[in-house]
Amino acid sequence: MAAFLWYFGIPIAFLVRVLYLSLSRNLATSRAAGRYGCKDPPNLPSRDPLFNFDIVRHSLRMAAKDRRIRSIYEQLHSYDFTFQSWPFGKRVISTTDPKNIQFVFATEAAKFGIGPQREHAQGPLTGLGIVTSDDPIWSRMRPLIRPTFTRTQIADRESFDVHVSRFMELLPSDGSEVNLRPLFERLILDSSSEFIFGESFGSLLLDCKVDSKKFIESFNNGQKGVGKRVLFGKMSFLIRDAKFWESCSLVQEYTRRLVENALARRRKAQEPGENEDDLPNRKYVLVYELAKETDDRDVLRSQLLNIFFAGRDTPATALTNMFFALARHSRVWSKIREEVKDLRPEDLTFEKLKSLRYVQHVINEALRLHPPVANNSRVCLQTTMLPTGGGPDRKSPILVFPGDTISMSFYTLHRRADIFLDPEEFRPERWQTLRTTWEFLPFGGGPRHCPAQQLALFWIGYVLVRMALRFRELRNMDPVENFVEDLKLNMESKNGARVGLVFDERRS
Ligand code: HEM
Repeated sequence: MAAFLWYFGIPIAFLVRVLYLSLSRNLATSRAAGRYGCKDPPNLPSRDPLFNFDIVRHSLRMAAKDRRIRSIYEQLHSYDFTFQSWPFGKRVISTTDPKNIQFVFATEAAKFGIGPQREHAQGPLTGLGIVTSDDPIWSRMRPLIRPTFTRTQIADRESFDVHVSRFMELLPSDGSEVNLRPLFERLILDSSSEFIFGESFGSLLLDCKVDSKKFIESFNNGQKGVGKRVLFGKMSFLIRDAKFWESCSLVQEYTRRLVENALARRRKAQEPGENEDDLPNRKYVLVYELAKETDDRDVLRSQLLNIFFAGRDTPATALTNMFFALARHSRVWSKIREEVKDLRPEDLTFEKLKSLRYVQHVINEALRLHPPVANNSRVCLQTTMLPTGGGPDRKSPILVFPGDTISMSFYTLHRRADIFLDPEEFRPERWQTLRTTWEFLPFGGGPRHCPAQQLALFWIGYVLVRMALRFRELRNMDPVENFVEDLKLNMESKNGARVGLVFDERRS
């Protein structure tokens, strides 16, 4: 009897559920069609109507060929920027219509979440926090970090310059080949760990501390495990990976110690006769600032790890992608050098960098063409209507149900020919006249936009100008001319940025 139930009962119950959901969806859709003119977008064709396994296989094949992002771009173009598919039987609406993106990220942001995708997968590594969760956790966490990222507090030029100077010393200056990607990764690892934890990992130094090395290794392992858990979803319990759990507990333990240090520091500052300004290490550090807002150790630990998860790679990816493009456009390099020629490193304040118009246009153009966050998605939490993209002309509203995923390709958005003239070209000058709102979103939009946008732009601009001051030539040394995508969490140039740098003797 038990065997009968196992072989027939479960599949039958599953089919009944699928049929029931499909019937109630169809009913709601035809009602909404009559009342509001809602229509579905076209379906991506599949030979497997129940689970769309062929579509899943196609995605995996494209990822293996380093063409995942580009293939989404091609699909979106063949379906006029909106279509739907049913991988594993779950509905995914893919869209790059700025009106839909604004609706999901801002107008009706509360009806869309990220928790269903991320909490379970990422929770063991970072705990639940600003990056993994929706309300009520998210709305408790986001205000805690708001003061930390305000403009004046983030422009800590001197702290950043220590790491940049170490980075510059590792660059050959005789035109011989160097791949900037691993060096940018170490630079950002060192500066983000100092800013977030109050202790730099020192990966650019020869004597990187042993426990830092262990932390980095464990975090990398943890991130790989998170990737697997995203893929397996609710079936993650099937994964047998002792190393993942070991790495997670090492990461948690390391962060626990840093949190205890920060709390001890705060207690010391509160003692009679003590003043925080007199304590050692007065630099602006996230963990010290958070410890002023709360002494809940779990909140502090998961907040730090969530922010580290979001911020430790993205600026390095943005720098790599930008130097990939610059190495292929010597005219742009000369123009940057012309703009900055009278500056010295100590002049490079936050305000000064913002005032360098061409430098800002170059950064925008690099983030447009190769955005580190190339794809973003949300899961619908409450039935609602996307404003557009449905029906044969893609102009009708689309009814969406809880559990549906809305997948938005920023890569494709940034290459829409109706918004950006000659979109495949790297041409910073376009930003002299271009004004964008929901058409250009390297840092996302709405209440969950990147809180560290200004910090990241400062870091990127600072490195760019320091290098432009020092090197008269930036040569491409990569025999592969085209951008090959490497999609992990971010989209990065697979071949990195292989360049030759020639020192400017006049600026010794
Ligand atoms: C060029 C560098 C960066 C880019 C392109 C970038 C991009 C983004 C994007 C697109 C989002 C929105 C994600 C979403 O809507 O799901 C985001 C969120 C976030 N970013 Fe960044 N980011 C960068 C650097 C950083 C850095 C350096 C930090 C921290 C030090 C950071 C911390 C965060 C956090 C905490 C969130 C989550 C915000 C929330 O959900 O409320 N980012 N980032």
